[in-house]
Amino acid sequence: MINMINDRDVKLMIPEKDPNYFLPQGIIKNLNRIEKLAKRHPVNVLVVGKQGCGKSSLVRQFAANNKRPLSTFQIGLLSEPGQLFGEKGLKEGNTFFEEYLFPQAISTPRSVIHLEEINRPEHPKALNDLFSVLSEDRSIWVEGLGLVKVAEEVIFFATLNEGAEFTGIDMMDAALRDRFYIIQVDYPPADIEEEILCSKTGVSREIAKKIVKVVNLLRNNAQMPLSISTRHSLMIAELASEGADIRDALVYSIQIEKSILESALISLHLAEGEEEISDNHHYVKYV
Ligand SMILES: Nc1ncnc2c1ncn2[C@@H]1O[C@H](COP(=O)(O)OP(=O)(O)OP(=O)(O)O)[C@@H](O)[C@H]1O
Ligand SMILES: [Mg+2]
Repeated sequence: MINMINDRDVKLMIPEKDPNYFLPQGIIKNLNRIEKLAKRHPVNVLVVGKQGCGKSSLVRQFAANNKRPLSTFQIGLLSEPGQLFGEKGLKEGNTFFEEYLFPQAISTPRSVIHLEEINRPEHPKALNDLFSVLSEDRSIWVEGLGLVKVAEEVIFFATLNEGAEFTGIDMMDAALRDRFYIIQVDYPPADIEEEILCSKTGVSREIAKKIVKVVNLLRNNAQMPLSISTRHSLMIAELASEGADIRDALVYSIQIEKSILESALISLHLAEGEEEISDNHHYVKYV
């Protein structure tokens, strides 16, 4: 059974602004156009990009900046049709319909509905319910609830992970894909990633520069390119902000072959080439 917040009185919240979230100006302009279009007719947006590149943050910040309530649903977890709306229950011999958050969210004017991992539902038919709410009729008949209508100015944002290990946009049903504007997000350029690390973790510009340099070298490493997300470079910077040196911060954040890491560090003059004196060979009691 899917675990979903299904408290009828749950308040849909306008998310908090993140003052340190960066996007290319072009995407921001288009998001502003989409906000205006939504006043005229139903709009759906698909945000595509690699793991941890800021897709969920984009949806959240769109809601925050336009003062819209946000609710998020893990479409990747759906294992049967109808599951978004609610389920039949039995109480003292009577059947009743327990309504989930989804119908409440789509009936809330101006809300942003974030559909995560729309390309990966466990049950392919689980998406069927979404067709009718995403299409121009913007309504669906639900047994137990009647006709559920999508409220005014509601925007659906779907996100999907694109990358070697994920099924991409092509795997998404063409009819479903046809209903979306598409925003492609990428990892930010080096200077912006440095700024993100400094502002979010408190590391110095010097350390942030070093982290971003190594991370980019590993990302573009010909031998074995690693896909290190912005989320992960933030994790590395967080360890560094607590005193870890660059090597330790990397070793404890990403699974990486020692030789690849060493050659990256050496090529950036962040290591001398000799074996580091490692804490890892000296055992003490963890008390
Ligand atoms: N452009 C950016 N500016 C500031 N912070 C960013 C940016 N991109 C990512 N981050 C930070 O990286 C972390 C991961 O971002 P987020 O969860 O939005 O990524 P995602 O693409 O939704 O990840 P997933 O693919 O796992 O769903 C968050 O802490 C977010 O604040
Ligand atoms: Mg996400």
